Amino acid sequence: MFDREKSAPVKAGGAARLWKKSFLTGSALFFLSWIWFFVRQYFKDGSWAFDPTLINKSLAVTSLLLISFSMLLTGLAMLRRRYMKYLPWRRFLGITGFVFGMAHALVGHAVFPLIGIEMEESGGLAILSDVLGYLSLAIFGLMAVASFAKVKGFIGGAMWRYFLRFSGYTALILVVVHSALLKWDSWLKYVNTFGSVLPSLSLPAVLVGIAALVFRLMGEKRKSRRRPAGVTST
Ligand code: HEM
Repeated sequence: MFDREKSAPVKAGGAARLWKKSFLTGSALFFLSWIWFFVRQYFKDGSWAFDPTLINKSLAVTSLLLISFSMLLTGLAMLRRRYMKYLPWRRFLGITGFVFGMAHALVGHAVFPLIGIEMEESGGLAILSDVLGYLSLAIFGLMAVASFAKVKGFIGGAMWRYFLRFSGYTALILVVVHSALLKWDSWLKYVNTFGSVLPSLSLPAVLVGIAALVFRLMGEKRKSRRRPAGVTST
């Protein structure tokens, strides 16, 4: 996700521009997600009431989408060279997604309990889901730290690439399972009945995450087909 492998180094001015664009993309996604959940609530309950838990859902979906887009770029670039020019975006989208993920955890588990708002989750699966959520957040946090050039120099290029590659996809899988543990029933109900008109936005967001994993695997397969026998990659 935050891996700058094979992409041209970003100049100081370019970095400021990518930070700005990534945070604008995150803000737009957050706003659109909130509208989606707000309209969906009307179709579900017939109510236009302001529900603060929709803010946390929107933070969660924005985080997952940004992180998934960041990783999707790697797979796309491996399959089609024309996407190579977007590789510098990965670090900026990934870190912005991590910031939204932190806000989601903070709002859901610190701010809401303080003001007496209860989340949708319940039971043992919710505890497992929370553990996976925290674990993925910790991994994304380590990746954000590792994305600084000084850290690359400290741990060495090969180790640095290996860490970013495997930790990113591991954390993405943990987030997908985190969301599935909480939303599986809702997704299944939607797919079986199409009753609520709009699905929870977490369903398309998780599908983007899965697409990022599948595209990367397809990219690796193509790379190994091109590589002469006996040559291995780091
Ligand atoms: C990068 C890290 C994380 C991502 C991308 C993420 C993503 C998601 C997604 C997509 C949902 C489903 C939203 C919906 O449609 O209702 C969700 C729900 C939830 N997550 Fe996370 N999550 C992360 C970390 C955490 C952490 C650390 C916690 C804290 C324990 C947490 C607690 C929750 C809770 C309580 C819900 C249920 C919200 C509700 O239904 O109202 N998440 N998360």
